[in-house]
Amino acid sequence: MLVTIVDALAGKPGIGEEVTVQGWVRTRRDSKAGLSFINVHDGSCFNPIQAVVDNNIENYNSEVIKLTAGCAVKITGKLVESQGKGQSYEIQATQVEVVGWVEDPDTYPMQPKRHSMEFLRDNAHLRPRTNITGAVTRVRNSIAQAIHRFFHENGFNWIHTPIITASDAEGAGEMFRVSTLDQMNLPKDDKGNIDYSKDFFGSEAFLTVSGQLNVEAYAMAMSKVYTFGPTFRAENSNTSRHLAEFWMVEPEIAFADLHDNADLAEEMMRYVFEAVLNEREDDMAFFQQRVDGECINRLRNVIDNKFERLDYTDVIDILKKSGKKFEFPVEWGIDLQSEHERFIAEEHVGRPTVVMNYPKDIKAFYMRLNDDEKTVAAMDVLAPGIGEIIGGAQREERLDVLDKRIAEMGLPAEHYWWYRDLRRYGTVPHAGFGLGFDRCVSYVTGVANIRDVIPFPRVPNNVKF
Ligand code: 4AD
Ligand code: MG
Repeated sequence: MLVTIVDALAGKPGIGEEVTVQGWVRTRRDSKAGLSFINVHDGSCFNPIQAVVDNNIENYNSEVIKLTAGCAVKITGKLVESQGKGQSYEIQATQVEVVGWVEDPDTYPMQPKRHSMEFLRDNAHLRPRTNITGAVTRVRNSIAQAIHRFFHENGFNWIHTPIITASDAEGAGEMFRVSTLDQMNLPKDDKGNIDYSKDFFGSEAFLTVSGQLNVEAYAMAMSKVYTFGPTFRAENSNTSRHLAEFWMVEPEIAFADLHDNADLAEEMMRYVFEAVLNEREDDMAFFQQRVDGECINRLRNVIDNKFERLDYTDVIDILKKSGKKFEFPVEWGIDLQSEHERFIAEEHVGRPTVVMNYPKDIKAFYMRLNDDEKTVAAMDVLAPGIGEIIGGAQREERLDVLDKRIAEMGLPAEHYWWYRDLRRYGTVPHAGFGLGFDRCVSYVTGVANIRDVIPFPRVPNNVKF
């Protein structure tokens, strides 16, 4: 019977059963006694399965001993308990079918050895075959599935917000323009220059920076909603935390304030981390051993403890009194830098911290103005080891205040006509947040660079794949 390697290694087919596995060779070792040991992986779990091949099988000399890393094979044999240490079951092969050879094995980039992360990034099309990218891929999937499960179980509707949009959801001007390649038919001015503001079949369009504004419309009818998809930022940042294309999870809840929002963020993270620890024990053990000795503790810490909640104003006091020398000077009104965020979450509090009520001048137009008129009901969740992982807010539900903020920030009110309608027709207090999905994967796995937790990273000067 055809089985996945995860099932074979768990002995599911039963000892002594004939099984067939298909996958790719990781290593081959030959013994003097005329046996070959072939490790095969198929992505279903961290460990490969070992097939023991006797030299009496038909294609032993012609094919089996020519197998190299990366060859695709289909192996049939008896599932037996393994004598080797660290593995439960192995296959005594009776048949080895080579499905795809590796051309020129000496130059095959994914040799079975430790590669640098830079090298793997340059080979993003082949890195899924490595231990580390395989583990990241399964954990990433597990996190995504747990997020959907969490919201589904809690009565949320998943809303498919658009990727192509007219409005700048963050008002920060970090959008990519969407252009058609067929510029023949575009409107031109007197001098024959293309009018790019009409580039999307007669109007101007961009890649979305956030699905929030659209999902708010659905919250004002469906009560509990979320969007989960790719978002785009034309910020030219070359850091280990930023991508030009990243995935974001954005729940939005009606009849809710900032504290309800922070509760939701905590519950979601707890649920997701627990699921990952349960589902991906093998991969997490690898990360713990080889990548970051703290990664499992970090998740346990989130599961077992309440998040700290601090006001921005208190955070500024704490930073000032810390006696620590920061590169970026601390004073009320600054946007917290990564060094400040990490000091608070890692050194001062020692667990995830929700910082609330930021100065209005450093936050987006849609955040609810507090009674002090200096701060808005914003919240960022800061996580040890990574800094900001979630950004959110209670939204401004009062039309007059919203209009004032849009004007103050010099944003084009006409772009937000429909968003304003939501305040005109049955407005209610509501709140939501965005979890940077890739930052979350980096947090869970301890893989420090965000480029190594997304299949094909999009960053300035890199669209090779
Ligand atoms: O703080 P941000 O910009 O918030 C929003 O976009 C809101 N509309 C969310 C909402 O309230 N619905 O982004 C949210 C999160 C950040 O905390 C961070 O984790 C991640 O998205 N993020 C990025 N991740 C990777 N690369 C980038 N360039 C990112 N920019 C933000
Ligand atoms: Mg933010």
